[in-house]
Amino acid sequence: METLLQLVNFNTKGYYFEGVRIKDAPRFVWRGLMIDAARHFQPVAVLKRNLDAMAAVKLNVFHWHLTDDQGFRVASKIYPKLQEQASDGLFYTQEQIKEVVRHASNLGIRVVPEFDVPGHASAILTAYPALGSKEGYPYSIERFSGVFNPTLNPIKEATYTFLENLFTEIAPLFPDEYFHIGGDENEGKHWDENKEIQEFKKKQQLKNNHALQTYFNIKLEKILKKLGKKLMGWDEILTPSTPKTAVIHSWRGKQEGLAQSTLIAAAKKGYQTVLSAGYYIDRMLSVTHHYSVDPIGNAVLTKEERKRILGAEATMWSELVTPQTIDARIWPRTAAIAERFWSAKKITDINNMQKRLKVINFQLEELGITHIKNRDVILRNISNHQNIEALKALSKICEPLKIYSRNKGGTEYKTFSPFTLFADACSADAEDAVAFNHQVQVFLASNNLNSLQQIKISLKKWSTNYVDFQKHKQTPITHALEPLSKNVSLISELLHGSLLSKKFTKEDQSISKQLIKQLKEPCQDVTLVILDSLNKLVHFCTTNYN
Ligand code: ACM
Repeated sequence: METLLQLVNFNTKGYYFEGVRIKDAPRFVWRGLMIDAARHFQPVAVLKRNLDAMAAVKLNVFHWHLTDDQGFRVASKIYPKLQEQASDGLFYTQEQIKEVVRHASNLGIRVVPEFDVPGHASAILTAYPALGSKEGYPYSIERFSGVFNPTLNPIKEATYTFLENLFTEIAPLFPDEYFHIGGDENEGKHWDENKEIQEFKKKQQLKNNHALQTYFNIKLEKILKKLGKKLMGWDEILTPSTPKTAVIHSWRGKQEGLAQSTLIAAAKKGYQTVLSAGYYIDRMLSVTHHYSVDPIGNAVLTKEERKRILGAEATMWSELVTPQTIDARIWPRTAAIAERFWSAKKITDINNMQKRLKVINFQLEELGITHIKNRDVILRNISNHQNIEALKALSKICEPLKIYSRNKGGTEYKTFSPFTLFADACSADAEDAVAFNHQVQVFLASNNLNSLQQIKISLKKWSTNYVDFQKHKQTPITHALEPLSKNVSLISELLHGSLLSKKFTKEDQSISKQLIKQLKEPCQDVTLVILDSLNKLVHFCTTNYN
């Protein structure tokens, strides 16, 4: 049905389908999107519109990250302190959970909940500190981002009673067979600091904290089995004694210093597995990057091993994402990722994908996704409702800092910091930059005159950005952007002049070098993503117009 919807065509008389035969089937059965509703709570309306968009691009698994250090987001009747003390009042009622699951189900989307334990447990332990591993520790809802020490105590029976009661209450809200227990990033510091836990490890001959966590996971697996659920966890749960019934969610790969993602290793060891390494959309990398990651790559697998690879998931971690910005962080890149999960491995033509993504981009808007309009909303806010054209032009050549270099150390922003800044109006794949960078590449490779013409048009436009920028009364946020606007205009004017006059003096060279150096520095958590191209043009002018 979604394919059919994509095929609607029109003329002046009406709307129609071309006469076509649709022959299509997915490459992977598990095509997911994870949304982190813990770091920043995401209201039901946000989830529903994103589920609609997921269905449109044939994603069929919604992985709902519901608990973390920054909040516990589900109402429990048995353990009400969870929502009362560990959610800041931002949680889903059980009726709301059913509503979201129903909405997803009607769209053919399964919902896999995640309750992240035993680490990432600051919120749970804020409500029930007695379950923690460090006695007397002042557990509180975490406001920063990162990996924290509060960890459930794996040697206390009370921990398992709590989890069994909680899961028995919560699991029926989620009809899906799979149940995600997180399990990531437990560094075991509080375990190391607890004498009883150390003694327990010795007595049970548990060699290290990984073995202790596996002891914990095996107990959880039994609880979940009774509830008719299959345990799924992030790839840290994979140890020699992990039951083969566990599903391994591979998230670590080259970025984490491994030779390849843990996906292949898990499949070879006999586990069902799902890949997220390469699809971390919160890293703010380009659509081209994600589209180019093949879940299996060149791995050689037996038929049985291949069958264990269920599929893949994009992950929308929400440390820096609010209901206002989440759509633009997910879309349209996830549409291309969805195609990677659906289509044959050989479908890799980037230009063709980009062309089709432009169409999907607006279809997403039709479904209620706010990725396009919210840029203007944020820019109007930061300019105090003045004309935003100059800011908007700038936002189309800037991207938020990538790979977690925004929010260094996890402490530049807190949960309730405003995410209504210029960087929040910017997105990956800044559209004018993508186009400009392409034209520069073509021009330098082939001396294409049409490309040169396009380059001149862009430079001319940016050369006046600062004049427009200055026409408005500056707010604190726009004022901080002034050097960026000014330097973009100066270098654009210089290069535009040089390309017209075919002259580039020693002084021009020196000034342009200075400007490039200044523009290299991040400003207000964004980078200027035309910088490489500008630098190449400076080289070109230096070489040819000297
Ligand atoms: C993860 O990114 N910690 C699973």
